Amino acid sequence: MKAGRRNQAQEGKAQFFVGEAFFRASSRTGRDLAVLAAIAYKRKHGSLRILDAMTGCGVRPLRYVLEAEADYVWANEGNVDLRSLLGANLSCGLTCDRYHITHMDANAAFFDCYQRQDFYDLIDIDSFGGPMPYLSTALWAVKLGGLLYLTSTDGRATSGHAPEKSVQTYGATARSHPAIHEQGLRLLIGAVAQQAAAKGLAAYPVFSFYQGEVNRVMVRVTRRSAETAGPKAGPKAADRSGSQFESHYGFLAYCHHCGHFQTVLWKKLGRVVCPCAAADAPVVSGPMWLGPLHDSETLTNMQHIMIEHHAQQPSDSGVHCQELLAMMQAEATMPPYHYTLAEIGRRGKMDIPPRQSLIEKLQQQGFQATRTHLSAQAIKTNAPIARCIQLAQQLS
Ligand SMILES: C[S@@+](CC[C@H](N)C(=O)[O-])C[C@H]1O[C@@H](n2cnc3c(N)ncnc32)[C@H](O)[C@@H]1O
Ligand SMILES: [Zn+2]
Repeated sequence: MKAGRRNQAQEGKAQFFVGEAFFRASSRTGRDLAVLAAIAYKRKHGSLRILDAMTGCGVRPLRYVLEAEADYVWANEGNVDLRSLLGANLSCGLTCDRYHITHMDANAAFFDCYQRQDFYDLIDIDSFGGPMPYLSTALWAVKLGGLLYLTSTDGRATSGHAPEKSVQTYGATARSHPAIHEQGLRLLIGAVAQQAAAKGLAAYPVFSFYQGEVNRVMVRVTRRSAETAGPKAGPKAADRSGSQFESHYGFLAYCHHCGHFQTVLWKKLGRVVCPCAAADAPVVSGPMWLGPLHDSETLTNMQHIMIEHHAQQPSDSGVHCQELLAMMQAEATMPPYHYTLAEIGRRGKMDIPPRQSLIEKLQQQGFQATRTHLSAQAIKTNAPIARCIQLAQQLS
């Protein structure tokens, strides 16, 4: 939204003017999740310094300090015309020792951090389009063990509708299938994980959030060895975490004939066949992240914080966040795709089955099955689609 007037807004504990800045009230959940993760980080590590690289009107610095008790926020905004708005917003809400404002290109800010060896606990890149032009540089500026929060709105590149764009942006092929929203998140996480691996680092998702064509991913960046083995890692730990990256970074194949998904690792790339033995080979997307979408331990901490906050100050956004976190928790380690109810109905030539009944039926049969935040009309399960169709037919 481009606001012509200095319209006033409130979100969480932040009060601010929007003025000419780009601000979407509907992106609140993405900011709520980041604040919760920041609180969890501060509780665990005791300190929190944040670089908000594309701050707009400054809503995030305000919320990071006022709600997550960030010790210090560097608020950067490339558009120098927002200088007075941003200055006024932050000076009204924060004491001057808690923030610093600059107007430079985000990449220059990241290089500056590296140059001065001044690394940040959380780097927030809320870019237009995709974050790829800033990814490798941001990895130079984040503290080891710190967090990187990325936003991407380049759905066309990840949905299979602009194949050349996905190759340019992600060095990956993106094909069209019913789980393309999840594919957008996984291509983004895969890109960070690969760029981190190239630097001898590891990047692992804290949470991944799809909302109305916007993908948001927060990753934790560690040394390769720390990812799997912790601070007392032995000499083989780096190799182990390297192989963990390899086993989570691969391809997703989808058979348009029967609807079956399968993951494909690099060594098996030339041999992708569907169990249905259709004449047309499955379409293959990737490389992308095939591992967990979220970190369950951090989600649990975020859930506890949310419950505490909600007890003090109940709100609709709090209820929404609790529901979302519960769904994320349930889907965290499920297979890297989902089935839409529409597809199950279409392939089974029946009405769309009721989601909860199908989930319960699958669970009764010994499968894992859950809702997914990616779509209110989809399920995640480790059952093959043929079994989902069969059980849905029994329900109907
Ligand atoms: C999506 S808006 C930020 C919204 C804000 N983070 C919020 O939550 O309301 C992106 C902002 O990044 C700024 N920007 C775009 N490219 C930039 C760059 N390369 N370096 C720094 N700022 C940039 C834009 O001027 C814009 O204000
Ligand atoms: Zn098939």
